[in-house]
Amino acid sequence: MCSDFISILDISKETLWDLIDSAKKLKSERKKGIHHEPLRGKNLALIFEKPSTRTRISFEVGMNELGGDAIYLNANDMQLGRGEEIKDTAKVISRYVSGVMIRAFYHATIEEFAHHAEVPVINGLSDREHPCQMLADIMTIDEHFGSTEGLKVAWIGDGNNVCNSLLLASSMTGMEVKVASPPNYTPPSDVIALAQKNGGLVQLSQSPMEAAKNADVILTDTWVSMGNETERLKRIEDFKDYRVTNEIMFSANPDAVFLHCLPAHRGEEVSDEVIDGPSSLVWDEAENRLHAQKALMQYLFSKNGLTLNH
Ligand code: CP
Ligand code: NVA
Repeated sequence: MCSDFISILDISKETLWDLIDSAKKLKSERKKGIHHEPLRGKNLALIFEKPSTRTRISFEVGMNELGGDAIYLNANDMQLGRGEEIKDTAKVISRYVSGVMIRAFYHATIEEFAHHAEVPVINGLSDREHPCQMLADIMTIDEHFGSTEGLKVAWIGDGNNVCNSLLLASSMTGMEVKVASPPNYTPPSDVIALAQKNGGLVQLSQSPMEAAKNADVILTDTWVSMGNETERLKRIEDFKDYRVTNEIMFSANPDAVFLHCLPAHRGEEVSDEVIDGPSSLVWDEAENRLHAQKALMQYLFSKNGLTLNH
Protein backbone atom coordinates (compact mmCIF):
# COMPACT_ATOMS: atom_id res chain seq x y z
CA MET A 1 0.00 0.00 0.00
CA CYS A 2 1.29 3.45 -0.96
CA SER A 3 0.55 6.82 0.55
CA ASP A 4 -1.35 8.86 -2.01
CA PHE A 5 -2.51 12.47 -2.17
CA ILE A 6 -5.95 12.30 -3.74
CA SER A 7 -7.81 14.43 -1.22
CA ILE A 8 -6.55 17.21 1.02
CA LEU A 9 -7.81 14.94 3.81
CA ASP A 10 -5.18 12.33 2.88
CA ILE A 11 -2.73 14.25 5.06
CA SER A 12 -3.05 15.13 8.74
CA LYS A 13 -3.05 18.67 10.05
CA GLU A 14 0.49 18.12 11.30
CA THR A 15 1.68 16.90 7.90
CA LEU A 16 -0.05 19.82 6.17
CA TRP A 17 1.90 22.31 8.27
CA ASP A 18 5.16 20.35 7.87
CA LEU A 19 4.63 20.57 4.11
CA ILE A 20 3.98 24.32 4.26
CA ASP A 21 7.16 24.82 6.34
CA SER A 22 9.12 22.68 3.92
CA ALA A 23 7.66 24.57 0.93
CA LYS A 24 8.67 27.92 2.47
CA LYS A 25 12.20 26.62 3.04
CA LEU A 26 12.41 25.34 -0.55
CA LYS A 27 11.17 28.72 -1.79
CA SER A 28 13.77 30.67 0.15
CA GLU A 29 16.58 28.27 -0.80
CA ARG A 30 15.62 28.47 -4.47
CA LYS A 31 15.87 32.26 -4.33
CA LYS A 32 19.39 31.88 -2.88
CA GLY A 33 20.36 29.34 -5.56
CA ILE A 34 20.56 26.45 -3.10
CA HIS A 35 19.40 23.13 -4.57
CA HIS A 36 19.12 19.57 -3.25
CA GLU A 37 18.48 16.55 -5.44
CA PRO A 38 16.77 13.99 -3.20
CA LEU A 39 14.81 12.57 -6.14
CA ARG A 40 17.80 11.93 -8.43
CA GLY A 41 17.06 9.01 -10.72
CA LYS A 42 13.32 9.11 -10.00
CA ASN A 43 10.57 9.65 -12.56
CA LEU A 44 7.09 11.08 -12.11
CA ALA A 45 4.45 10.37 -14.77
CA LEU A 46 2.02 13.24 -15.36
CA ILE A 47 -1.23 12.02 -16.92
CA PHE A 48 -3.60 14.69 -18.20
CA GLU A 49 -7.14 14.10 -19.41
CA LYS A 50 -7.64 17.90 -19.46
CA PRO A 51 -5.46 20.92 -20.37
CA SER A 52 -3.08 22.55 -17.89
CA THR A 53 -0.56 25.36 -17.68
CA ARG A 54 0.37 25.70 -13.98
CA THR A 55 0.03 22.09 -12.87
CA ARG A 56 2.07 20.66 -15.72
CA ILE A 57 4.86 23.23 -15.56
CA SER A 58 5.14 23.32 -11.77
CA PHE A 59 5.34 19.53 -11.54
CA GLU A 60 7.85 19.25 -14.41
CA VAL A 61 10.07 22.04 -13.08
CA GLY A 62 9.67 20.86 -9.49
CA MET A 63 10.65 17.30 -10.32
CA ASN A 64 13.67 18.53 -12.35
CA GLU A 65 14.80 20.80 -9.53
CA LEU A 66 14.67 17.88 -7.09
CA GLY A 67 16.98 15.94 -9.41
CA GLY A 68 14.34 13.74 -11.02
CA ASP A 69 12.43 13.71 -14.29
CA ALA A 70 8.79 14.16 -15.21
CA ILE A 71 7.08 12.52 -18.17
CA TYR A 72 4.11 14.40 -19.64
CA LEU A 73 1.39 12.06 -20.89
CA ASN A 74 -1.75 13.25 -22.63
CA ALA A 75 -4.31 10.56 -21.81
CA ASN A 76 -5.64 10.73 -25.38
CA ASP A 77 -2.24 9.77 -26.75
CA MET A 78 -2.03 6.75 -24.44
CA GLN A 79 -3.75 3.42 -24.92
CA LEU A 80 -6.07 4.66 -22.15
CA GLY A 81 -7.67 6.81 -24.85
CA ARG A 82 -8.33 3.63 -26.88
CA GLY A 83 -9.91 1.78 -24.00
CA GLU A 84 -7.02 0.16 -22.12
CA GLU A 85 -8.31 -0.29 -18.60
CA ILE A 86 -7.29 2.06 -15.83
CA LYS A 87 -6.21 -0.81 -13.60
CA ASP A 88 -3.97 -2.30 -16.28
CA THR A 89 -2.45 1.10 -17.03
CA ALA A 90 -1.82 1.68 -13.32
CA LYS A 91 -0.07 -1.66 -12.91
CA VAL A 92 2.14 -1.14 -15.97
CA ILE A 93 3.09 2.47 -15.19
CA SER A 94 4.04 1.42 -11.65
CA ARG A 95 6.79 -0.76 -13.16
CA TYR A 96 8.41 2.24 -14.86
CA VAL A 97 8.10 5.27 -12.59
CA SER A 98 8.30 6.18 -8.91
CA GLY A 99 5.09 8.20 -8.79
CA VAL A 100 2.12 9.35 -10.85
CA MET A 101 0.19 12.62 -10.96
CA ILE A 102 -3.19 12.43 -12.67
CA ARG A 103 -5.62 15.13 -13.77
CA ALA A 104 -8.88 13.39 -14.60
CA PHE A 105 -12.49 14.23 -15.32
CA TYR A 106 -13.75 11.89 -12.62
CA HIS A 107 -12.41 11.58 -9.10
CA ALA A 108 -13.28 7.87 -9.26
CA THR A 109 -10.73 7.44 -12.07
CA ILE A 110 -7.93 8.67 -9.80
CA GLU A 111 -9.14 6.51 -6.92
CA GLU A 112 -9.26 3.45 -9.15
CA PHE A 113 -5.81 4.21 -10.56
CA ALA A 114 -4.38 4.59 -7.04
CA HIS A 115 -6.03 1.39 -5.90
CA HIS A 116 -4.12 -0.58 -8.53
CA ALA A 117 -0.88 1.43 -8.62
CA GLU A 118 2.18 0.35 -6.68
CA VAL A 119 3.58 3.88 -6.48
CA PRO A 120 2.21 7.07 -4.88
CA VAL A 121 -0.55 8.82 -6.82
CA ILE A 122 -1.21 12.58 -6.71
CA ASN A 123 -4.50 14.20 -7.71
CA GLY A 124 -3.68 17.01 -10.16
CA LEU A 125 -7.39 18.01 -10.25
CA SER A 126 -10.60 16.02 -10.50
CA ASP A 127 -14.26 16.99 -10.56
CA ARG A 128 -14.28 16.68 -6.75
CA GLU A 129 -11.02 18.19 -5.52
CA HIS A 130 -7.86 20.11 -6.36
CA PRO A 131 -5.71 19.35 -3.32
CA CYS A 132 -2.39 20.56 -4.80
CA GLN A 133 -4.00 23.94 -5.44
CA MET A 134 -5.12 24.01 -1.83
CA LEU A 135 -1.57 23.44 -0.55
CA ALA A 136 -0.46 26.50 -2.53
CA ASP A 137 -3.46 28.57 -1.40
CA ILE A 138 -2.89 27.77 2.27
CA MET A 139 0.81 28.56 1.89
CA THR A 140 0.00 31.90 0.22
CA ILE A 141 -2.50 32.93 2.89
CA ASP A 142 -0.17 31.83 5.69
CA GLU A 143 2.78 33.71 4.15
CA HIS A 144 0.71 36.88 3.92
CA PHE A 145 -1.01 36.86 7.33
CA GLY A 146 1.57 34.88 9.34
CA SER A 147 -1.13 32.33 10.28
CA THR A 148 -4.40 31.03 8.89
CA GLU A 149 -6.04 30.38 12.26
CA GLY A 150 -9.28 32.30 12.74
CA LEU A 151 -9.23 34.02 9.34
CA LYS A 152 -12.56 34.59 7.62
CA VAL A 153 -12.67 33.38 4.04
CA ALA A 154 -15.39 34.07 1.47
CA TRP A 155 -15.64 31.80 -1.56
CA ILE A 156 -17.74 33.60 -4.18
CA GLY A 157 -19.02 31.60 -7.15
CA ASP A 158 -19.15 27.95 -8.09
CA GLY A 159 -19.06 25.35 -5.29
CA ASN A 160 -16.55 23.37 -7.34
CA ASN A 161 -13.44 21.19 -6.93
CA VAL A 162 -11.21 23.98 -5.57
CA CYS A 163 -13.97 25.11 -3.20
CA ASN A 164 -14.37 21.52 -1.96
CA SER A 165 -10.69 21.26 -1.07
CA LEU A 166 -10.91 24.62 0.73
CA LEU A 167 -13.89 23.42 2.76
CA LEU A 168 -12.29 20.09 3.61
CA ALA A 169 -9.11 21.88 4.72
CA SER A 170 -11.01 24.15 7.10
CA SER A 171 -10.49 21.89 10.12
CA MET A 172 -6.71 21.93 9.48
CA THR A 173 -6.33 25.65 8.75
CA GLY A 174 -8.73 27.02 11.35
CA MET A 175 -10.20 29.29 8.66
CA GLU A 176 -13.95 29.96 8.70
CA VAL A 177 -15.25 29.53 5.17
CA LYS A 178 -18.45 31.11 3.88
CA VAL A 179 -19.52 30.04 0.38
CA ALA A 180 -21.76 32.35 -1.64
CA SER A 181 -23.08 30.58 -4.70
CA PRO A 182 -26.31 30.46 -6.70
CA PRO A 183 -28.76 27.83 -5.34
CA ASN A 184 -27.93 25.12 -7.89
CA TYR A 185 -24.19 25.54 -7.56
CA THR A 186 -23.58 24.98 -3.86
CA PRO A 187 -20.80 22.54 -2.88
CA PRO A 188 -21.94 18.90 -2.62
CA SER A 189 -23.76 18.23 0.65
CA ASP A 190 -21.47 15.30 1.52
CA VAL A 191 -18.44 17.60 1.27
CA ILE A 192 -20.07 20.15 3.58
CA ALA A 193 -21.08 17.39 6.00
CA LEU A 194 -17.57 15.90 6.00
CA ALA A 195 -15.94 19.30 6.51
CA GLN A 196 -18.26 20.00 9.45
CA LYS A 197 -17.85 16.53 10.92
CA ASN A 198 -14.08 17.10 11.00
CA GLY A 199 -14.60 20.36 12.89
CA GLY A 200 -14.41 22.74 9.93
CA LEU A 201 -16.29 26.04 10.21
CA VAL A 202 -18.29 26.11 7.02
CA GLN A 203 -21.36 28.13 6.09
CA LEU A 204 -23.43 28.71 2.96
CA SER A 205 -24.91 31.99 1.75
CA GLN A 206 -26.53 33.21 -1.44
CA SER A 207 -25.29 36.75 -1.06
CA PRO A 208 -21.75 37.59 -2.21
CA MET A 209 -21.85 40.90 -0.31
CA GLU A 210 -22.93 39.19 2.88
CA ALA A 211 -20.27 36.48 2.54
CA ALA A 212 -17.57 39.06 1.84
CA LYS A 213 -18.49 41.23 4.83
CA ASN A 214 -15.49 41.39 7.20
CA ALA A 215 -13.70 38.64 5.25
CA ASP A 216 -9.90 38.50 5.31
CA VAL A 217 -9.64 36.46 2.11
CA ILE A 218 -11.85 36.49 -0.98
CA LEU A 219 -11.53 33.51 -3.28
CA THR A 220 -13.16 32.66 -6.56
CA ASP A 221 -12.69 30.46 -9.62
CA THR A 222 -14.07 30.15 -13.12
CA TRP A 223 -17.84 29.82 -13.56
CA VAL A 224 -17.22 27.18 -16.23
CA SER A 225 -14.84 24.48 -15.08
CA MET A 226 -13.24 22.04 -17.50
CA GLY A 227 -15.98 19.55 -18.31
CA ASN A 228 -18.82 22.12 -17.91
CA GLU A 229 -18.34 23.74 -21.32
CA THR A 230 -21.72 22.64 -22.72
CA GLU A 231 -23.42 24.62 -19.91
CA ARG A 232 -21.40 27.75 -20.58
CA LEU A 233 -24.20 30.14 -21.61
CA LYS A 234 -26.49 29.07 -18.78
CA ARG A 235 -23.69 29.36 -16.25
CA ILE A 236 -22.70 32.86 -17.38
CA GLU A 237 -26.31 33.90 -16.82
CA ASP A 238 -26.67 32.06 -13.48
CA PHE A 239 -23.44 33.47 -12.04
CA LYS A 240 -23.71 37.05 -13.27
CA ASP A 241 -24.31 38.44 -9.76
CA TYR A 242 -21.35 36.51 -8.33
CA ARG A 243 -18.49 38.50 -9.87
CA VAL A 244 -15.69 39.64 -7.56
CA THR A 245 -15.50 43.40 -8.11
CA ASN A 246 -14.08 46.29 -6.09
CA GLU A 247 -17.50 46.59 -4.45
CA ILE A 248 -17.08 43.08 -3.03
CA MET A 249 -13.51 43.86 -1.94
CA PHE A 250 -14.72 47.05 -0.20
CA SER A 251 -17.23 44.98 1.76
CA ALA A 252 -14.36 42.81 3.08
CA ASN A 253 -11.78 43.87 5.68
CA PRO A 254 -9.60 46.78 4.54
CA ASP A 255 -6.54 44.49 4.42
CA ALA A 256 -8.37 41.61 2.70
CA VAL A 257 -6.58 39.71 -0.07
CA PHE A 258 -7.85 38.14 -3.29
CA LEU A 259 -6.94 34.66 -4.52
CA HIS A 260 -7.81 32.75 -7.69
CA CYS A 261 -6.31 29.43 -8.74
CA LEU A 262 -6.21 30.64 -12.39
CA PRO A 263 -6.88 30.54 -15.28
CA ALA A 264 -9.06 33.63 -14.73
CA HIS A 265 -11.83 34.75 -17.02
CA ARG A 266 -11.51 38.47 -16.62
CA GLY A 267 -14.84 40.25 -16.73
CA GLU A 268 -16.64 37.06 -15.72
CA GLU A 269 -15.84 35.82 -12.19
CA VAL A 270 -13.41 38.67 -11.48
CA SER A 271 -12.91 42.21 -12.72
CA ASP A 272 -9.53 43.44 -14.00
CA GLU A 273 -9.37 46.01 -11.20
CA VAL A 274 -9.46 43.25 -8.56
CA ILE A 275 -7.13 40.69 -10.14
CA ASP A 276 -4.63 43.42 -11.08
CA GLY A 277 -5.25 45.43 -7.91
CA PRO A 278 -3.23 45.80 -4.71
CA SER A 279 -5.13 43.06 -2.86
CA SER A 280 -4.43 40.37 -5.43
CA LEU A 281 -2.01 37.60 -4.47
CA VAL A 282 -2.70 35.47 -7.54
CA TRP A 283 0.86 35.50 -8.93
CA ASP A 284 2.38 34.45 -5.61
CA GLU A 285 -0.34 31.82 -5.37
CA ALA A 286 0.59 30.44 -8.81
CA GLU A 287 4.31 30.46 -7.90
CA ASN A 288 3.61 28.64 -4.67
CA ARG A 289 2.27 25.65 -6.63
CA LEU A 290 5.91 24.90 -7.44
CA HIS A 291 7.23 25.09 -3.87
CA ALA A 292 4.26 23.30 -2.29
CA GLN A 293 4.40 20.43 -4.79
CA LYS A 294 8.16 20.03 -4.36
CA ALA A 295 7.51 19.65 -0.63
CA LEU A 296 4.70 17.20 -1.36
CA MET A 297 6.81 15.07 -3.71
CA GLN A 298 9.69 14.90 -1.22
CA TYR A 299 7.24 13.87 1.49
CA LEU A 300 5.39 11.23 -0.55
CA PHE A 301 8.51 9.75 -2.10
CA SER A 302 10.34 9.58 1.22
CA LYS A 303 7.30 8.09 2.96
CA ASN A 304 7.42 5.32 0.39
CA GLY A 305 11.18 4.83 0.82
CA LEU A 306 12.10 6.40 -2.50
CA THR A 307 14.30 9.38 -1.61
CA LEU A 308 18.08 9.43 -1.61
CA ASN A 309 19.74 9.76 1.77
CA HIS A 310 21.71 12.86 0.85
N1 CP B 1 -4.67 26.24 -11.24
C1 CP B 1 -4.41 25.23 -12.08
O1 CP B 1 -4.47 24.04 -11.75
O2 CP B 1 -4.03 25.66 -13.32
P1 CP B 1 -3.81 24.75 -14.60
O3 CP B 1 -5.16 24.27 -15.06
O4 CP B 1 -3.17 25.68 -15.60
O5 CP B 1 -2.92 23.59 -14.26
N1 NVA C 1 -12.38 24.65 -11.30
C1 NVA C 1 -11.46 24.74 -12.39
C2 NVA C 1 -10.06 24.80 -11.88
C3 NVA C 1 -9.00 24.97 -12.94
C4 NVA C 1 -7.62 24.94 -12.40
C5 NVA C 1 -11.66 23.55 -13.30
O1 NVA C 1 -11.90 22.44 -12.80
O2 NVA C 1 -11.58 23.71 -14.51
